[in-house]
Amino acid sequence: MKNSVQVKCPATVANLVCGFDVLGLCLDDPADLMDVSINHDGRITVKSADGYPLPENPAENTAGAPLLEMVKELEPGIGFDVLTHKNIKPGSGLGSSAASAAGATVAANILLGNKFSNEDLLRFAMFGEKVASGVKHADNVAPCIYGGVTLIRSIHPLDVVALDAPPLYVTVVHPQIEVKTSDARQILRKEVLLKSAIKQWGNIAGLVAGFLKKDYALIGRSLEDVIIEPVRSILIPGFDTVKSRCLEAGALGGGISGSGPSLFMLNQHESIAKENERIMQEVFKELGIDYKTYVTTINTKGVTQVS
Ligand code: HSE
Repeated sequence: MKNSVQVKCPATVANLVCGFDVLGLCLDDPADLMDVSINHDGRITVKSADGYPLPENPAENTAGAPLLEMVKELEPGIGFDVLTHKNIKPGSGLGSSAASAAGATVAANILLGNKFSNEDLLRFAMFGEKVASGVKHADNVAPCIYGGVTLIRSIHPLDVVALDAPPLYVTVVHPQIEVKTSDARQILRKEVLLKSAIKQWGNIAGLVAGFLKKDYALIGRSLEDVIIEPVRSILIPGFDTVKSRCLEAGALGGGISGSGPSLFMLNQHESIAKENERIMQEVFKELGIDYKTYVTTINTKGVTQVS
């Protein structure tokens, strides 16, 4: 069996507009790389190849915390050394912490000869999300491990459904400002009106049905969020302009990626996805905010072994 492995850990879009904490999608681009090796003195270390200041204590690290949970279920003495190469910026809304948490668990599992199931890996990886945002949400780590689109029906007990989806082009803009997930969660109202809840669960069901039926129009109609977006979009300059102009240009729909500040739009056609990218670039140039854009597709594999 190998002693070390390199994995590619993809970005993810959590929530998919209406499905706060329950829906997520895995992207082909951007992605981190992670080197993980196994040791036999019970040591867990996480280092950054890019000079990110990481906490010494693995329990305070998004890749370390899941591995600490994993080794509790292994014979004593097994440990892992992790080296991260980050392309997904922390605080981008593109699942940076999930990429580290999921990547570490998948890589360690390869080194263990695939001892654990994907559901086990998800259970461990959620400890990384707890470190990052204070809450064990699974809507980034699940698509990162399983690939494709995932529905988290429940986290207690864990119940994850991998959903089929038609081919989609995803346009993403990451304005270079940081929004901490913990802050973006704190500003949310704790109660919702019944009439808003009814709209929201109609949209979630519509979106899931749209994916399964490969019905692009239904997907587009269902990408509506009456609960979270009105509160969080205030944190993102240019949100309304980007969204309305991309919709006018033919996007199916879109909104905040995870807790932001990245925005994403889903498209049936690559040409419209590229036009969305042009619009995003124009809006953020006018606002004088640096940005990064991606035109990408759904990654159906999740974390994969590179070498
Ligand atoms: N569902 C989480 C949130 C995702 O929106 O707070 C964080 O990326």
